[in-house]
Amino acid sequence: MTRLSGKVALVTGGARGIGRAIVERFAAEGAHVMIADIVEDEGRALAAALPDAMFHTLDVSKSADWDAAITALQARFGPLGVLVNNAGTSMSGSIADAPEADWHRIMDINALGAFLGCQRAVHAMGVHGGSIINVASSRGQRPSSGQAIYSASKAAVLSLTRSVALHCGENGLPIRCNALCPGVIETPLLRQHMASLGDEAAARVQLGAMQVMNRIGQPEEIAAAALFLASDEASFVTGAELNADGGFRIRD
Ligand SMILES: NC(=O)c1ccc[n+]([C@@H]2O[C@H](COP(=O)([O-])OP(=O)(O)OC[C@H]3O[C@@H](n4cnc5c(N)ncnc54)[C@H](O)[C@@H]3O)[C@@H](O)[C@H]2O)c1
Repeated sequence: MTRLSGKVALVTGGARGIGRAIVERFAAEGAHVMIADIVEDEGRALAAALPDAMFHTLDVSKSADWDAAITALQARFGPLGVLVNNAGTSMSGSIADAPEADWHRIMDINALGAFLGCQRAVHAMGVHGGSIINVASSRGQRPSSGQAIYSASKAAVLSLTRSVALHCGENGLPIRCNALCPGVIETPLLRQHMASLGDEAAARVQLGAMQVMNRIGQPEEIAAAALFLASDEASFVTGAELNADGGFRIRD
């Protein structure tokens, strides 16, 4: 299958977890892919294993890193066509006890990172157009008291997504911008969280029950949704929030 044949894509946080699954699926569908991450060894190894991929070190919260990555991507593959703002982090903490430092760390990666990526993509895609996919979270729609900062950071990403979609429409730029909202997904980030809870088996059952489908999702299931938003099949989809969350958002 080649649903992304010839498209040039950049995936942040592409070395692990959901980002890695998106990189693998995009490459299998014919895209030229840049894996942009702070984890170099795994990113480089993944790029070497794929037909037409490259790795670039990128901390999404640093403007200069973005400029260097986009320049390198365009020199090798040509104009950017698909950006997936996937890199993100999570930390627990309620409004009563979350440290101020966590606010800056989470907002820098999740919200500022998405902002810088969208800004660079709007300039790089310009009149040629493209698709921007912001990996948010169902937590951005249905916050949790125990993840106050994370939930707020993902709500920021959802609002940013709509602003970018509006800007592109108002300025005649053929750029679509959508958010992808995963539920609980089996990734290194989640496994770290489960390990911190002590009884991992019990945590798995509890986390699975947060979805209507009563299970934890797999990164490949998020990659399939990202593929739709990246492809021309989503040609009339912009400013949308696509939930690939097993029904997390509608669960009481
Ligand atoms: N796993 C879940 O249950 C879940 C649910 C909803 C949303 N999400 C979102 O999906 C995205 C991916 O999550 P994941 O579970 O795959 O996480 P993960 O920790 O397993 O992988 C994240 C990747 O991002 C990279 N990264 C972290 N900080 C970075 C930075 N500053 N610059 C560049 N790269 C950076 C990491 O090195 C890693 O490769 C995140 O935005 C997360 O909030 C995850």
